Amino acid sequence: MTAEPYVPEDADLDTLREAVHTCRGCPLYRDATQAVFGAGPSTARLVLVGEQPGDREDIEGEPFVGPAGRILDKALTEAGLTRDDVYVTNAVKHFKFQRADRGKPRIHKTPGRTEVVACAPWLVAEVTRIDPDLLVCLGATAAKSIHGPAFRITQDRGRIIPAATGPFEGRRTLATTHPSAVLRARDDRDEVYAGLVADLRIAAEA
Ligand code: URA
Ligand code: SF4
Repeated sequence: MTAEPYVPEDADLDTLREAVHTCRGCPLYRDATQAVFGAGPSTARLVLVGEQPGDREDIEGEPFVGPAGRILDKALTEAGLTRDDVYVTNAVKHFKFQRADRGKPRIHKTPGRTEVVACAPWLVAEVTRIDPDLLVCLGATAAKSIHGPAFRITQDRGRIIPAATGPFEGRRTLATTHPSAVLRARDDRDEVYAGLVADLRIAAEA
């Protein structure tokens, strides 16, 4: 399973964004509404990588436009950034979900290692075109896509770490909490959110 044959070589971002709709690199295209490519200026110095589109993103075709996106926007503002300063994308371009009751948002399922690996050529192509100063991994799925499956976000978040191997080798990265973790948090919600803002501030100043 790989997206590789669907990724046009030497294509610009707009061409890639069109080509992603032809991808059959893993089975996730079958049940999703559409692929969701990254969005934001091609000149961005920061690329933010989430996990995969959620229910809203799958419907609208844009990354981080649902509840997690609202948390992200708020955190970016508090860190002195706006969505115009960053290119936002996901490790996996199609929504993996469990069917829900009618009228309810579908339930997100964490993509597996094979899907993350299959979809990585799209992320590599985006990051290569943009060539940012820093890759910000939002959550474990993004961090593992970039650093490999052994990466532990709880240990290594909030620090600038160059990728040691793989297609992003040598590129500066910073891992932080996924905005959805703020939504899921209970008693420690303020703390989890403050951690996200603090890490984004480090990214903004990097
Ligand atoms: N969560 C993600 O990881 N990405 C999105 O685009 C939306 C929610
Ligand atoms: Fe292709 Fe990624 Fe969608 Fe799988 S999830 S079909 S690899 S774009």
